[in-house]
Amino acid sequence: MTSAGDELFAAGRFDEAMAAYRGALKANPRDAGARLGLDAILERARTPQPNAHLRELLLEAYADEGANWDAVGWGAANQVTVGWPADNSLGVLAQDRLLHEFLRKSLNRDAALERKLLKLRAAVAAAPSSPSIDALAASLAEQAWLNEYVWPDDAAVTDPAKAAMFRMPAEPRPEQVEERAFAAEIPEIAPITDAVSQSVAAMYEANPYPRWTHLARRPQVDVRAALMADFPHADTVDFGSGPLQVLMPGAGTGQHPLTVASSYANAQVTGVDLSRASLAYGKRMAARHGIGNIAFLRGDILDLPKLGRTFDHAECVGVLHHMADPKAGLLAISSVLRPGAFLRLGLYGEHARVLVVKARRDIEAARLPATLDGLREFRRKVMSGEWRRLRALQESEDFWSASLLRDLCFHVQEHRFTVSRLRSFLDGSGLRFLGFEFNVGTSQRADAGAGPLALYASRFRNDRTMANLENWEQLEREKSGLFPGYAFVCQKL
Ligand SMILES: C[S@@+](CC[C@H](N)C(=O)[O-])C[C@H]1O[C@@H](n2cnc3c(N)ncnc32)[C@H](O)[C@@H]1O
Repeated sequence: MTSAGDELFAAGRFDEAMAAYRGALKANPRDAGARLGLDAILERARTPQPNAHLRELLLEAYADEGANWDAVGWGAANQVTVGWPADNSLGVLAQDRLLHEFLRKSLNRDAALERKLLKLRAAVAAAPSSPSIDALAASLAEQAWLNEYVWPDDAAVTDPAKAAMFRMPAEPRPEQVEERAFAAEIPEIAPITDAVSQSVAAMYEANPYPRWTHLARRPQVDVRAALMADFPHADTVDFGSGPLQVLMPGAGTGQHPLTVASSYANAQVTGVDLSRASLAYGKRMAARHGIGNIAFLRGDILDLPKLGRTFDHAECVGVLHHMADPKAGLLAISSVLRPGAFLRLGLYGEHARVLVVKARRDIEAARLPATLDGLREFRRKVMSGEWRRLRALQESEDFWSASLLRDLCFHVQEHRFTVSRLRSFLDGSGLRFLGFEFNVGTSQRADAGAGPLALYASRFRNDRTMANLENWEQLEREKSGLFPGYAFVCQKL
């Protein structure tokens, strides 16, 4: 159902859309559609001068636990930057509520703002303690926690409150204590024996991916009905009225599984991952958000058949390309799906990873280790321009924290796909390809008339399903860069 705000948004009338969404949120603070729409505008909002109205809306978003603080962080970074005092006055910056909220709730992903924040951190480290200096130190320490201390550790401060802006405090944080307790409670499917799975597990035990702060509220969705609407050529199978049993292999720290558990109607979610530390993070966040319809299991995707049960739906994004044999992972997932179940997958594309492949080569040649020091040195080389050819990596959302960057450029195992490789990947898997998804999480398959779906529709007029991989392969050959990566849906035969 589209709201007045959505119609105005679609027409590009952003000021009016913003007012409509805000009005809807005043009437019902839990209106998920209005929150989503307003956050999408705040994400794009850029002004050359400080804008009091935008700042107020951003502060309202930071006061709402259901807002998308990743998205609004972009608008907040812009307001913080354009409002930055020319004389870098610590007194003025300490009074900037938006700066504090941004540092505590959004990971900075802007190189110019990072440079300002590093100067601010140095000034705070050198200044005598006072309430405003201490408040700035505390907020900068929260940002350091969010980026997992990936900024340079370049000051010899010893005062613990200030040192926490540079490095992990010796004293564990309350959430770490809580996670250790949760980790001990997570059941295991079977011990991990595959050699690649073991090294992948070690990587995500050290750097659970991603460290996230908020659970964006989403409109409730009947996922099977939504997928049937998007892919009308899928088989209609009635699963009855019991809870939809959803499997999330490679659940990570639970952001995607908890979004599913809280927004898919009548769902019971099972998250499986190699990394106990990641799952413990998810369990803590589930408790914090009062989400009870989720269970976490530690184990290898390869061992899913050992569960001795089946699922009605599965989503596995950013995972199978990290297995020694992605197809073996796919077959294991397929084997625990009921006939008619949908499987949503997300895989790396060869074209979109060209720069990452160069980075991986340079990292290997320079023997940079996948440690915090190695990550910091890599960032220094890229951000200073020493490794000029990799500069554009700063445009990636994954450049900005230790776990994100490690995942992006230092991974122990990655495969990259093309449409041709997808065809052999799916062949014999017991799964039928239903179609690609673009802009997942926004308007689903829509691509505003100019994207891959529109191209396909005009080239292959007789195929309304848009599910022929040979056709897609031909399109990809003609237009490299067609896919940013592969997000698609299959159905168990
Ligand atoms: C890049 S993270 C993605 C996490 C999550 N799906 C997301 O989109 O945020 C990859 C996750 O897959 C998990 N993983 C990789 N190989 C796995 C395997 N063989 N069995 C279970 N989990 C695996 C890792 O432990 C890690 O948490």
